[in-house]
Amino acid sequence: MHISVFFSFLVVLLARSVTPSHQKGAPGPPVILVPGDGGSQFEAKLDKPKVVHIWCDRKTSNWFPMWLNLELLAPYILDCFVDNMKLVYNNQTRQTSNMAGVDIRQPGFGNTSTVEWLDSSQLRPTSYYYHIAQAMVDWGYTRNVNIRGVPYDFRRAPNEMSELMKDMKTLVEQTYTMNNATRVILMGHSMGCPVLLYFLHQQTQAWKDKYVRSLITLAGPWGGAVKTLRLMASGDDLGVFVVNALSARPEQRSMPSSAWLMPYDTFWNDTEILVTGPHGNYTVNDYKRFFDDLGFPDGYDMRQDTEKLIDSLVPPGVEVHCIHGKNVKTPAAFHYSKKQWFDYQPDVVWGDGDGTVNIRSLHGCLRWQGKQKQKITHKEFANVDHLGMLDNKDVNNYIKTIVLN
Ligand SMILES: *[C@@H]1O[C@H](CO)[C@@H](O)[C@H](O)[C@H]1NC(C)=O
Ligand SMILES: *[C@@H]1O[C@H](CO)[C@@H](O)[C@H](O)[C@H]1NC(C)=O
Ligand SMILES: *[C@@H]1O[C@H](CO)[C@@H](O)[C@H](O)[C@H]1NC(C)=O
Ligand SMILES: *[C@@H]1O[C@H](CO)[C@@H](O)[C@H](O)[C@H]1NC(C)=O
Ligand SMILES: *[C@@H]1O[C@H](CO)[C@@H](O)[C@H](O)[C@H]1NC(C)=O
Repeated sequence: MHISVFFSFLVVLLARSVTPSHQKGAPGPPVILVPGDGGSQFEAKLDKPKVVHIWCDRKTSNWFPMWLNLELLAPYILDCFVDNMKLVYNNQTRQTSNMAGVDIRQPGFGNTSTVEWLDSSQLRPTSYYYHIAQAMVDWGYTRNVNIRGVPYDFRRAPNEMSELMKDMKTLVEQTYTMNNATRVILMGHSMGCPVLLYFLHQQTQAWKDKYVRSLITLAGPWGGAVKTLRLMASGDDLGVFVVNALSARPEQRSMPSSAWLMPYDTFWNDTEILVTGPHGNYTVNDYKRFFDDLGFPDGYDMRQDTEKLIDSLVPPGVEVHCIHGKNVKTPAAFHYSKKQWFDYQPDVVWGDGDGTVNIRSLHGCLRWQGKQKQKITHKEFANVDHLGMLDNKDVNNYIKTIVLN
């Protein structure tokens, strides 16, 4: 699976039952949902020069659902999936491309369906924004009219999102117009939050004042997450034993978004050791040596390509509602013995956070207080983890007070 680091609690969301309720209320402003890493459906079409195993498909006549498709994560065919999903980095152009002969698209731009559900086969429905969208429908909202969705290629960071930025701008304007000139609420989850911050940085204040009512951020990793360092070294098994972390690692490492979400030196200082290993210890200032010791120098280039995108954390210039979990055991550092380095999972030093993002990073939105004239509110939910934010009654009720106020 692409098996993103921000996705380790995926299993928790599998096969939840659907419980519609029937209260209708007056709807509030239109809402645009921007998912995080792993939160958009991908379709692929293949005509590959070569495959990694004879049982992998080399050519398909049609587009097929690739992410999320639980069937493709079975051990024997995981390698086929990884070889289709990974990106190729060119260290001269500093751009990524798909593997040769692989076409990938994210269906349904503007539509909520492809960010509500991940496994489109819905044999074992895997929900993402579904519970929030359905709650909004219960409050009187209508899908694809005043709830819209932004599926996108979450493998990439905003340095390769210029088309997406244009499309999002058009979607905001369209949604505003479709809803009788009502300013929209932008809602992000996980990596969707820094993507939205980057988007807002690109717009003029006049445009934001005209089109954007507020920004709601759910579990935003404003300063990165320590967990990404383990993914770079050893791969991430998503907390699911069926997925082999080492098999998934080539794909996980190939994503510039993984490099983008590594911890920032504006949040961790150079006395805090994040990774201990047999060849040395690594802080936020040691990424060059870290990637060299991993034999993966492209990783450092990708970090350099992406680290300045929002690292100065300029305030968004719109009203902000910053919401996240806390009091969940979250990786704060990793220890590798000589034997573990770096193909085995390390020992974990735990800290506070939402299970994926460290608490100091979740608190990054507080740095805007006093730096913009628009209001900033902050709400924490104890014991709600990173993906649990998307399916929690208390969180939904809180969102309701913001959206319908
Ligand atoms: C780019 O990658 C190639 C192949 O991995 C490597 O030999 C070369 O040194 C790299 N160049 C730069 C400028 O990093
Ligand atoms: C949204 O997606 C659903 C399911 O794929 C489809 O039936 C519907 O026509 C789409 N709506 C829009 C507005 O694109
Ligand atoms: C659109 O806004 C105008 C002016 O505020 C209002 O008179 C009208 O009823 C609104 N129409 C709808 C469909 O909400
Ligand atoms: C670095 O961070 C640690 C832990 O937050 C803190 O105790 C220490 O004082 C900091 N050191 C410097 C030099 O800022
Ligand atoms: C790495 O840090 C550990 C403590 O976490 C220390 O015992 C060890 O000497 C350090 N190794 C190096 C090479 O600095």
